Amino acid sequence: MPIEYLSGATEKPRLIIGITGASAPHLAIHLLTALRQLNTVATHLVISKAAHRTIELETGLRPDDFAGLADVYHQRGDIAATIASGSFLTLGMVVVPCSMKTLAGIAHGYSDDLLTRAADVCLKERRRLVLVTRETPLSLVHLKNMTAVTEAGAIVLPPVPAFYHGPTTIEDLLAHLSGKILDQFGIQHDLFPRWLGATAAQDFVGGSVR
Ligand SMILES: Cc1cc2nc3c(=O)[nH]c(=O)nc-3n(C[C@H](O)[C@H](O)[C@H](O)COP(=O)(O)O)c2cc1C
Repeated sequence: MPIEYLSGATEKPRLIIGITGASAPHLAIHLLTALRQLNTVATHLVISKAAHRTIELETGLRPDDFAGLADVYHQRGDIAATIASGSFLTLGMVVVPCSMKTLAGIAHGYSDDLLTRAADVCLKERRRLVLVTRETPLSLVHLKNMTAVTEAGAIVLPPVPAFYHGPTTIEDLLAHLSGKILDQFGIQHDLFPRWLGATAAQDFVGGSVR
C-alpha cells in the first residue's frame, strides 16, 4: 500500500494542512474545499490519530473522505514523508483545528508523529505556521503554550467568528475563517467581503444587530 498519494499537482507552491482531534473538523473540510476550488497551491494533508475519531463522531465521514480533498495525503506514522524534511520546500503549514495536546507538542518540540514533526520543521525553517487552536475556556497551561509557539514564530489563529461582514449562515462563518487562514499565507481569495469602512459595510450587513 503506498504511503503517499500523488496527484501530479506538485509544481504549485505547497501548503501543509494538519487536522488534529479538536472539535470542528468542518473547519478543515471548508479550507481544503476552498483550496481545491482556488487551485493555486498543492495541498499536503496529514491527520492525527485522534482526528480520525473526531471526524467520524462529528461529521459522520471517514478520514479517507478527507484524504480525497487533498493533492497529497500522508500517513501520520510516516516520519520519512517529504513534509518531515526542511529540504522539501513549502509555504508552511496550518493545523486546523489544533488541539491543546498538539499545541503543547509543538510548543515544546515534542514531535511524536508526522503532523508535529512537519510543524516543528516549519518553525526551524522559519516558515509560516498557523495554529487554529480550538478549546474554551483556556487554562494557564494552554495560554503559556500559545505564548511559547508565538515566541517561536507561529501564529495562533483561533476560530473566533466575526460579524462585520454580515454572515447569515454557518457557511459564511467558515468561509471567513478559511479566508483569514489564507491571508496568512498570501493566498488570494474572495471568501468574504473585506472591510472597506462603515459606509460600505451597510451594503452587506443586513441583520437587525450590527
Ligand atoms: C468529540 C471530541 C471533541 C474534542 N474536542 C477537543 C477540542 O476542542 N480541543 C482539544 O484540545 N481537545 C479536544 N478533544 C480531545 C482531543 O481529541 C485529545 O486531547 C487528543 O489526544 C488530541 O490528540 P491530537 O492532538 O494528536 O489530535 C476532543 C475529543 C473528542 C472525542
